[in-house]
Amino acid sequence: MTLKYYAEELKKTAKALAQNGKGILAVDESTKTVGKRLASINVENTEANRKAYRGMLFTAKGLGEFISGAILFEETLFQNHPDGEPMVKKLETLGIIPGIKVDKGLQPLPGAKNVETLCSGLDGLVARAADYYTQGARFAKWRAVLQITEDGCPTNLSIQENAWGLARYARSVQESGLVPIIEPEILMDGSHDIKKTAEVQEEVIKQVYMACQLNGVLLEGTLLKPSMTVQGANCATKAKPEEVAQMTIRTMERSVPASVPGIVFLSGGLSEEAASIYLNLMNKLERKGNWNVGFSYGRALQHSCLKAWKGTNLEEGQKALLARAQANSEASKGIYVAGSQPSSDEALFVAGYSY
Ligand code: 13P
Repeated sequence: MTLKYYAEELKKTAKALAQNGKGILAVDESTKTVGKRLASINVENTEANRKAYRGMLFTAKGLGEFISGAILFEETLFQNHPDGEPMVKKLETLGIIPGIKVDKGLQPLPGAKNVETLCSGLDGLVARAADYYTQGARFAKWRAVLQITEDGCPTNLSIQENAWGLARYARSVQESGLVPIIEPEILMDGSHDIKKTAEVQEEVIKQVYMACQLNGVLLEGTLLKPSMTVQGANCATKAKPEEVAQMTIRTMERSVPASVPGIVFLSGGLSEEAASIYLNLMNKLERKGNWNVGFSYGRALQHSCLKAWKGTNLEEGQKALLARAQANSEASKGIYVAGSQPSSDEALFVAGYSY
């Protein structure tokens, strides 16, 4: 099959994922990363425990009212729930579209600066994506990472390499019927101010779409997953939430084509509450861009849920997940009232975070 064969379906899937008032639950942590999460609640990182945790998320009644898609790690896509039914079936029952992280992680980028990376996983990707489609996945994710440093990162080399990788990935998975979520994350590490982030992010996203054009990516069948335009975690001047919202939307309006149906932000180490408040403010602004502005959060949807679940407490875990899902659904419509749902204010930022 080819992109041409899947074109109408890709547009339909992207639209369904980007519908107003719904967002994406990112649960595609690698086995190593989910191990760190489980360790924080003293749960051992075994397949049975990963299955129990994710099985709890995927059976939360009513979750499909707020969540349009869930990004899975490969293990979960092919896994059964503890009750024997496939995890994919559980999601479908809730009305949630299954997705899959297809990148194979970050590697040092030869010729660039120390902290800079490329994202691996292009070899054999068209065939892998076809297998994921057969297994029920309808969209994919690829996370490229850029960092702002005082000694000149991101370099042009890193911007070009990561933009190109994202575009090659996007075109490759579209050939097999998966909607690509294009994720050029700018890490929060650093002491730069919000203006610097905006300048770098604008350039990065522009380069991503230029590479998409060269690769013939069908933009109507894609979603963009950027970080919000915030200052570095160590910057002394903290921008107010209104400024974050305004600068983020300005950056998007300057760089994201109108043919892209949805922008789904990552939370990137923001606290649960901050992630909801910023999203809400963005949706209150008058915008030139008419893409849907929603969320694809990992940490900001799972943090208090994990703490409430504690390894066995199904009901409390699901309650906490639904609370954050509803809050972000409201924020996607610009009607979230800060503090109206239980949340954690704990900063979730970790330097040099890997997913
Ligand atoms: P966070 O929301 O925790 O940043 O994760 C989203 C994600 O999928 C990163 O690739």
